[in-house]
Amino acid sequence: RARSITTQIRAYDSAGLAEAAALIRAGEPVAVPTETVYGLAADATNEMAVARIYAAKGRPAFNPLIVHVNDLAMAQRLVTFTPEAEALAAAFWPGALTMVLPRRPDCPVATLASAGLPTLAVRLPSHPAMRALIAAAGVPLAAPSANRSGAISPTRAAHVLASLDGRIPLILDAGPTSEGLESTIVQPREDAVVLLRPGPVTIEALGEASGLPVVLPGHGGPITAPGQLESHYAPSKPLRLDCPHPVEGQFHIGFGPGPSQRNLSASGDLVEAAANLFAALHEADASGFPAITVAPVPHRGIGLAINDRLRRAAA
Ligand code: TXA
Ligand code: MG
Repeated sequence: RARSITTQIRAYDSAGLAEAAALIRAGEPVAVPTETVYGLAADATNEMAVARIYAAKGRPAFNPLIVHVNDLAMAQRLVTFTPEAEALAAAFWPGALTMVLPRRPDCPVATLASAGLPTLAVRLPSHPAMRALIAAAGVPLAAPSANRSGAISPTRAAHVLASLDGRIPLILDAGPTSEGLESTIVQPREDAVVLLRPGPVTIEALGEASGLPVVLPGHGGPITAPGQLESHYAPSKPLRLDCPHPVEGQFHIGFGPGPSQRNLSASGDLVEAAANLFAALHEADASGFPAITVAPVPHRGIGLAINDRLRRAAA
């Protein structure tokens, strides 16, 4: 985002933790270590808070985020566990394994956190700082790596500061992370464990714990760019972009002042628009209108990510 703020580094102690939790409850993103890398955490149930993560990172697209939980019960309130997922959780949680599972119908996590997908990536980390922050904030925390988009993942507070200085209010410093590599991401199926991103939990360990073959997504091609996944939410009806005015008989998603069926941000705030984007697309899709139009959204800041998602949704 454009606004420049002072970024504080606080030691991970009770005062630092209380400050971080207060910021999380106020909808702000906070950098916090996990055992893999430092994450940029925000209240996963708050669309605006999740939008601020994307804005701070300058992500040009809304890649779905990992939601961090404090215990298995919290995970079970968000996603549906199959027996295969339960076996993997028993073997590797808390730890560096992320599982992509179906969102429950009553899942309280912001649609933006999973980029509008019907699935959600969840992880129960082992790092005491991240665990304590989830407990103190009382909500699951969405957290990508705490770096500007395209930069290397941070394994110490100084890396986070170098990348996000002036863009986030607080970094909780608990020293270097132990794993130093992002978590392994899998999608457990009945017949196999699909490896979406290699990481600290190895293929061998996954196979042994699940008793299942570990396979690559799609048609078995090698994973070349970890984390670059192609699934994107797209409405089932035609979507036309850059329409400044509503069109009779079509669902108009507005931006800025003016009439619309749903406005992303009447005041023209891009962070607010990002927070509302997926909900607006879902609403338009579920409506009785046969087609959708979207007002132009500026291509600056988080507006780049909004336009990227709109382009994909319209493709
Ligand atoms: O170790 C980690 O995983 C760190 C710490 C902070 O937990 N987090 C992290 O997040 O690496 P991030 O955003 O850099 O990578 C998360 C990746 C996304 O790039 C996306 O590819 C995948 O997780 N992902 C998230 N939700 C997904 C979903 N519903 N389906 C498929 N892939 C998903
Ligand atoms: Mg990352």
